[in-house]
Amino acid sequence: MNAFFAFINSSVGKKILMSLTGIFLCTFLVEHLAGNLLLLKKDGGEAFDAYAHFMGGNPIVRTLEIGLFAIILIHIINGTFIWFSNRRARDKRYASYKLEENTTFQSRMMAVSASLVFVFLVVHLAKFWVPARILGEQNLSSLVYATFRQTFFVVFYLVALVVLSYHLRHGFQSAFQTLGWKTKRYGGLIEFIAVLFWLVIPIGFAIIPLYIYFYGGSAVAMMR
Ligand code: HEM
Repeated sequence: MNAFFAFINSSVGKKILMSLTGIFLCTFLVEHLAGNLLLLKKDGGEAFDAYAHFMGGNPIVRTLEIGLFAIILIHIINGTFIWFSNRRARDKRYASYKLEENTTFQSRMMAVSASLVFVFLVVHLAKFWVPARILGEQNLSSLVYATFRQTFFVVFYLVALVVLSYHLRHGFQSAFQTLGWKTKRYGGLIEFIAVLFWLVIPIGFAIIPLYIYFYGGSAVAMMR
């Protein structure tokens, strides 16, 4: 156990933890997008509400949800530690050459994008998760349709998804480097999977507010 904590405390251990928690969070995005795409079904939001009801009432899903929040927290706290220890290490070095400047810019942008994704998550959870899981909202689809008929929220979600896409793109790059997955043999496949995550999934999410904004979401849910 001590050896495990010593490893997690080392700089390589922290980077591996960052990569593994990041990859886990990406798998959540796949499930989350699949469920949310039910909002596009023209059935008055019935399929989405049934899915949300199942997710909210199933004890296994609720336990996994606690795990998900724990992993989000670990990812944030560990990332903050890495950022500060990198900065401290950089401050100690005097020589500044191009590579160093590039690395500094990349890691600064990762910290900025991470902070913006965090702000998005807080707003997002307050908007949907609190009503669904804490306040017992039954017509979650109506709440989502009502939200995405407002220009402010559509723009907010689109900007957040661009930032998320940036964060995933560079996060994947550094995760592959850390885990040593960029081999000649599997490089192409790994690159393909990365594109699915940083490009296809954010586009999939973006379709939801855009579709609801321009086509009104489900006509039946609008009348509720
Ligand atoms: C337009 C796209 C999105 C819609 C319509 C949406 C909708 C929802 C809804 C209705 C909930 C609360 C109930 C439930 O879990 O089903 C929720 C929870 C959540 N969302 Fe989203 N979401 C979107 C995008 C995102 C993105 C891009 C992220 C991550 C960056 C995200 C992260 C979460 C998390 C962590 C939860 C709480 C965990 C959970 O209950 O499953 N969502 N979302």
